[in-house]
Amino acid sequence: MTTSEVGLGLRRIDNGTESIASMKNLGILLSGRGSNFVAIADSIVANKISDARIAVVISNRADAPGLEIARQRGLSALCIPSKGKAREEHDRAVVSALFENKVDLICLAGYMRLLSPWFVQQFPQKILNIHPSLLPAFPGLEAQQQAFAFGVKVTGCTVHFVDEELDHGAIIVQNTVPVLDSDDERALAARILEQEHVAYTEAIKIVLKGNFEIVGRRMVEL
Ligand code: GAR
Repeated sequence: MTTSEVGLGLRRIDNGTESIASMKNLGILLSGRGSNFVAIADSIVANKISDARIAVVISNRADAPGLEIARQRGLSALCIPSKGKAREEHDRAVVSALFENKVDLICLAGYMRLLSPWFVQQFPQKILNIHPSLLPAFPGLEAQQQAFAFGVKVTGCTVHFVDEELDHGAIIVQNTVPVLDSDDERALAARILEQEHVAYTEAIKIVLKGNFEIVGRRMVEL
């Protein structure tokens, strides 16, 4: 049996029937730099996330560096511009692209748009988000700066299911990051980002394994 890499994020095992059919298709939504997307793609190639491939990367911004990285890596990369469109009109175009690409799990990776309730209802418990704080502390924009300004001694990141409220769904993984006296906002954000990359891979593995249940707000591994 041989294992080969087909672009980044798609591993093929050449022994006949195993392989593409059993693979889960990930859809990545991003708006900017794309470091979380790259961390996920690298985890697939390194087989830290197995039986998954990135089926499509979608950005609402044409100038998102993450989109260009996806193209360079040979992944299917789409821009579906959101500017000037009503939320649900844009969401309908994105959801169509996700269905066309047979996406099983959607990973928001710095996707700086609220999803409409309609979007969320199309993929129950199939949308993950990463947020750079220990939710429910500091939801919304610039969570790292919010935490720094508040003077917390510990912050971190959260990967959670997306529900119809902002930064709110059941929590899958949280990693903590101490706030050092020597920190400035930049240094703190950089250390949180390192943990984001670790946490996202961990969360995807848990969700793809499917060995959990959600009890109230609590995601409990079985
Ligand atoms: C990350 O810090 C992510 O947690 C944050 O945007 C950044 C995207 O970075 N997302 C949010 O704040 C969502 N509420 P990246 O483009 O390098 O992955």
